[in-house]
Amino acid sequence: MNLEDIKTVLIIGSGTMGQQIGFQCAVSGFDVIMYDIVNDMLDAADKRLDKLAKTYIAAGRLTDETAAAARAKIQMTTDARTAGEHADFVSESVPEDPKLKGRVLAQFNEICPAHAIFTTNTSSLVPSMFAEATGRPERFAAFHFHDTRVTNVVDIMPHPQTSAEVVDLIEAFAVRIGQLPIMLKKENFGYVFNALIMELFKSAQTLAANDVASIQDIDRAWMGVMHTPVGPFGIMDSIGLDTVWKLTDYWANIVKDPQQIANAAFLKTYVDNGALGEKTGQGFYAYPSPAYANPDFVTSTAIK
Ligand SMILES: NC(=O)c1ccc[n+]([C@@H]2O[C@H](COP(=O)([O-])OP(=O)(O)OC[C@H]3O[C@@H](n4cnc5c(N)ncnc54)[C@H](O)[C@@H]3O)[C@@H](O)[C@H]2O)c1
Repeated sequence: MNLEDIKTVLIIGSGTMGQQIGFQCAVSGFDVIMYDIVNDMLDAADKRLDKLAKTYIAAGRLTDETAAAARAKIQMTTDARTAGEHADFVSESVPEDPKLKGRVLAQFNEICPAHAIFTTNTSSLVPSMFAEATGRPERFAAFHFHDTRVTNVVDIMPHPQTSAEVVDLIEAFAVRIGQLPIMLKKENFGYVFNALIMELFKSAQTLAANDVASIQDIDRAWMGVMHTPVGPFGIMDSIGLDTVWKLTDYWANIVKDPQQIANAAFLKTYVDNGALGEKTGQGFYAYPSPAYANPDFVTSTAIK
């Protein structure tokens, strides 16, 4: 199988990430079928795709015409057979549960052509956890996107049975859809960027939970030295403190590290107060105008 043989991309799970991945594939000229079990999710996806198209146009990445052409490449369905029967490349973005992912990929293994490549967009699992369930482990790997509105970095993570040919094809496909592939040589929880950022979050949470420095000063230290527009707490706000808490709590209980358990408890105080970050208007900072976005935040005259 060659890159040219990939014509139709199936997106399984048309929520936040499925929409972004599907749109990126359509922008690059592929026929895209977006599948979901919930009709309402497809209605919502339809509206969100219009919004996504506008974001791309505003950023100068698309014109009205190319955005309309991309939208015309996308079909939506809740019928699994219609969705899968002509798929050449599959990207799964259902909720983060290995049993669910295995079940859904097994279902589509029965429907999709034998040559179709299966990928998962899991953020915190590794593909070998449900590779056997796909029924085609050698044609399966993780292909993980970040927010496509702000970055084109993607991770490709094979598991021990993924064939070299499939890894090469996923890499070529990633480049074809305008992404910057980061190749993992072996399975690793958190890929590359996520593994790095989780360590930064852990250090920032530990400093704040132990009351070593204020949240603002921890962000200032990072932003001031690294010249970034946002620090670790601002980034956690944009991800959602419920998500950050769930991940921190999950790993804290696996590794049974007292400091990580304390960090999870620190995050939980925000979650319990409904302060989930940017999406609720309040997290470590207040939105839509968080203090760190003020140019004075990292100057020597900043008022604390
Ligand atoms: N949100 C992020 O920032 C992000 C980033 C990278 C990776 N991910 C990963 O992407 C995956 C999806 O995350 P999301 O944020 O898009 O979730 P989401 O909740 O927005 O979307 C999940 C979708 O899957 C659908 N679904 C549930 N069961 C299904 C089934 N059996 N068949 C088909 N569709 C089904 C739901 O109806 C929903 O529309 C997760 O594995 C997550 O870890 C998320």
